[in-house]
Amino acid sequence: MGVFASTDDPGSTGHEQVVFCQDKQSGLKAIIGIYSTALGPALGGTRFYPYASEEAALADVLDLSRGMAYKNALAGLDLGGGKAVIWGDPEQIKSEALLRAYGRFVESLAGRYYTACDVGTYVADMDVIARETRYVTGRSVEHGGAGDSSILTAWGVFQGMRAAAEHVWGAPTLAGKRVGVAGLGKVGKYLTKHLLDDGAEVVATDVNPKALEWVRTTHPQVDLVDDASALVAADIDVYAPCALGGALNDDTVPALRAKVVAGAANNQLAHSGIEKLLADRGILYAPDYVVNAGGVIQVADEIEGFNFDRAKLRATKIYDTTREILRLADDEGVPPAVAADRLAERRMADVGRLRTIRLG
Ligand SMILES: NC(=O)c1ccc[n+]([C@@H]2O[C@H](COP(=O)([O-])OP(=O)(O)OC[C@H]3O[C@@H](n4cnc5c(N)ncnc54)[C@H](O)[C@@H]3O)[C@@H](O)[C@H]2O)c1
Repeated sequence: MGVFASTDDPGSTGHEQVVFCQDKQSGLKAIIGIYSTALGPALGGTRFYPYASEEAALADVLDLSRGMAYKNALAGLDLGGGKAVIWGDPEQIKSEALLRAYGRFVESLAGRYYTACDVGTYVADMDVIARETRYVTGRSVEHGGAGDSSILTAWGVFQGMRAAAEHVWGAPTLAGKRVGVAGLGKVGKYLTKHLLDDGAEVVATDVNPKALEWVRTTHPQVDLVDDASALVAADIDVYAPCALGGALNDDTVPALRAKVVAGAANNQLAHSGIEKLLADRGILYAPDYVVNAGGVIQVADEIEGFNFDRAKLRATKIYDTTREILRLADDEGVPPAVAADRLAERRMADVGRLRTIRLG
């Protein structure tokens, strides 16, 4: 795999910039990947994870930063795609000095990259990073930030699911439908509430006893099943993966009874080709990065000075975007995941090109 794009190397990733950052004393080893700034500064979170190797960390940041370019483009943001990884176990090495050293590297990119939370980093970490750089979102409310991004992530997933329901059953509601939620974490909890408010039946699962306890106490009407495999095989209309990636794979898709998949998890398709398998089985897949963009919409709003109502309005538009993608998929005879990529690439090319019009 090479980073530099060229016509004679189709395996190249085509990233604009990849920066390796090291601060030996604090133990910081980070890689910042900027896939595209065609639509604006690259925005994407920082993943703090004990990768098995430098190669694994690099592969992840290249993949994730590319994904953010597509997500931000379809979220209608004037932002490009980037992501960062910090290589190491956050439980062992996360410290003020390490986070601030990282912040200085983000600052050194002079606004080409804005960071945010991801796996292993939290709102409180962003507040620390913000002591060294202006280019950070996902800060705490006390520091002018958007706080918990899962609120609008769940709202956006619900909007995408409504659009998918309309496409399949003719009405933009989950009322009377049985929805399987895999993962009752930050997003899954809010999503469950939206679904119940809309009149859906919810059946759920989680590996964490605390999450199960929460749902038993808060929403006793929710049915629980043992694990994600049981949920996939259950008599459900909609499957909402809200835990880890790879939920849609060669084992789960053939077993799936739902007619619609719409959930918060990133990278739901275990490998390319799964989108076709879903389409062949007549299952409508609302692309993950389209429906889970509410979180990035929420934190991106901080750049203008956070306003929850404005961000919510923007996240509500995920309904329209999902509809447009599903229509395009039908028109062009391709799975929705392919239609979404095409639409994102079109926006990056059409709007990104405008920067070539010279301003006085
Ligand atoms: N939080 C956001 O704003 C946001 C934004 C975009 C995408 N996402 C994605 O959505 C997903 C959920 O995010 P979150 O913030 O709610 O994370 P979270 O860690 O709060 O929740 C995940 C939940 O899934 C459960 N889980 C893990 N493995 C499971 C399994 N095998 N079966 C059933 N449950 C399992 C966990 O116990 C946990 O309760 C992740 O894939 C995340 O990357 C989140």
